[in-house]
Amino acid sequence: MVSVTTVVLAALAVVASAAPACKPLAYTLPQAGEGDELAAPAANLVLKKIAIGHGIQNYSCETTASNFSATGALAVLYDATPLYPKTKKTGINQREWDSLPTNLLRNQPLPLNKLAGSTYGADPTKPFPDPADLDLQGLPRSKFLGHHFFDNKGVPVFDLGTAGLKAVVKKVDGIAAPRSADAGITGSGAVQWLQLDDNLSGQSRGIKMVYRVITAGGAAQACSVAGVGVQSVPYATFYWFYG
Ligand SMILES: *[C@@H]1O[C@H](CO)[C@@H](O)[C@H](O)[C@H]1NC(C)=O
Ligand SMILES: *[C@@H]1O[C@H](CO)[C@@H](O)[C@H](O)[C@H]1NC(C)=O
Ligand SMILES: *[C@@H]1O[C@H](CO)[C@@H](O)[C@H](O)[C@H]1NC(C)=O
Repeated sequence: MVSVTTVVLAALAVVASAAPACKPLAYTLPQAGEGDELAAPAANLVLKKIAIGHGIQNYSCETTASNFSATGALAVLYDATPLYPKTKKTGINQREWDSLPTNLLRNQPLPLNKLAGSTYGADPTKPFPDPADLDLQGLPRSKFLGHHFFDNKGVPVFDLGTAGLKAVVKKVDGIAAPRSADAGITGSGAVQWLQLDDNLSGQSRGIKMVYRVITAGGAAQACSVAGVGVQSVPYATFYWFYG
């Protein structure tokens, strides 16, 4: 017969091994590795979420001879934090992690309500379908986290409604995506990596800095190629949120 003491000791041993014996996981913002890098997050900030986003970048061309101008973006955000490599039980390997944006871009339909008659355009009256989790083949599901859009003043917003977080931001810095980045479905290139800070309008909740890294697709096509009017270019990326 097993004594009560043995059972208790065994139970304690299980608890001890389940307790965080090692240091908390260190989240390291990716670097582009080709020269200029984005500044590191301020030392007093902590990582709140890593999202994987999928949507469109919008541009407009006045004439076929002009330069395009960026007019906004729409994306659905999923919580990728539990998939971060070395996360206990749910972490995926580094290679799978680094290729998440390209996997998402190329293996999932755009999670936007389509604008009739367009290839990648979104319905302006109701761009987002009902919230749904992300189910990429062979990987754990990622929970729906919220939306990225531009408000009626043209200001970029990240509404991480399910986490009670929100970021209303301004662009602080941008660097070219690495040469090896996924040029996207249209082949127009990967959008820049960005540092975005709270725009100090008092509308952000729990977020002070946002980084866009490991971008896939989303760059504009030259106006001469795209023609006149709005282009919507599919992209996927990581967004790292600090607060
Ligand atoms: C496009 O932008 C570049 C760099 O800012 C500028 O030199 C060029 O004149 C612009 N071209 C047109 C057609 O506006
Ligand atoms: C982006 O373009 C789509 C059309 O593809 C439109 O529905 C949406 O309102 C635009 N959004 C922004 C922020 O420019
Ligand atoms: C910040 O965003 C708010 C909301 O759109 C806007 O009213 C304000 O002008 C923005 N401020 C800056 C500095 O971008």
